[in-house]
Amino acid sequence: MAIPDAFITGLPKAELHLHIEGSLEPEQMFDFARRNRIQIPFASVEELRAAYKFSQLQDFLDIYYRGADVLRTEADFHDLALAYFERAHADGVVHAEIFFDPQTHTDRGLPFQVVADGLLAGMTSAEARYGVTSSLILCFLRHLDEAAAFTTLQAAEPWLDRIAGVGLDSSEVGHPPSKFARVFAAAGSEGLKRVAHAGEEGPPEYVVEALDLLKIDRLDHGNRALESPELVTRLARNGMALTVCPLSNLKLCVVGDAADHPIPIMLKQGLRATINSDDPAYFGGYVADNYRAVAPYLEREDLITLARNSFLGSFLPDAAVTRHLSAIDAFAG
Ligand code: HPA
Ligand code: ZN
Repeated sequence: MAIPDAFITGLPKAELHLHIEGSLEPEQMFDFARRNRIQIPFASVEELRAAYKFSQLQDFLDIYYRGADVLRTEADFHDLALAYFERAHADGVVHAEIFFDPQTHTDRGLPFQVVADGLLAGMTSAEARYGVTSSLILCFLRHLDEAAAFTTLQAAEPWLDRIAGVGLDSSEVGHPPSKFARVFAAAGSEGLKRVAHAGEEGPPEYVVEALDLLKIDRLDHGNRALESPELVTRLARNGMALTVCPLSNLKLCVVGDAADHPIPIMLKQGLRATINSDDPAYFGGYVADNYRAVAPYLEREDLITLARNSFLGSFLPDAAVTRHLSAIDAFAG
């Protein structure tokens, strides 16, 4: 029997894989361009949306980095974050750990402070307005070098008490986790959590490097880990959370068809899989849309497991996790 949509949206959930720059909707891109007096090379929202056709990760990244150029002021980052939380709240998200890419902005001349203070203000507004709690994860762009990552970590120093962790994103193939082993070690010694995109397009060996060399606390995507039975056993045994993004996987051709999405297999193999939206403005939907994409291939109990995993895999304190798990029990009965 089909799972009612109200069950999907009503289920209390955390979002653990969301690039805030990837929540920039085409309408908002035009608004920010107008208020910052920037020309964008598209005549309309429809024309921009029509350009969102990707056959691999790099196709998306090229347009995503260009889109971020409309973000110029603290108010832009505040408004961007608040708009995301409004949509996330409507989807039943009660906690979000959001990625941001400081280098995308500092490399075009914005101070780190504009980005960080704008996002933090948006997160504060969202908690006051919607009751959604959140934290920030600073991502290093892996197509840039180790020195640039160190410079970014240094720029973040005054904000480290308000940043939960570091991550690794951008073009995966050719930029293995080993490139960032030292900067992740430095981040770890600052008390930051560590996550990394691995196994989205890159081979299972990149996932092994992320575990062994970056000492990750959570794995972003991880789809290609399934190619290695030993790795699956290791991830399951360690209770490693995987932040899986079904609509992203479809849009970037990591998976050909929703019916072939590996989420059911991941759950059967005992992996702590979670469902997330990645870059919702570019990939066709927010977190509930991602649950909807795979729900036809899952049982009601699986959706509950996915929501539970989102809190178990979060960086929330134990007491908050327990409280959210009780809310799931109260909702699902
Ligand atoms: N993969 C890698 N880098 C990214 C992504 C992604 O899905 N989204 C934004 N940056
Ligand atoms: Zn991502």
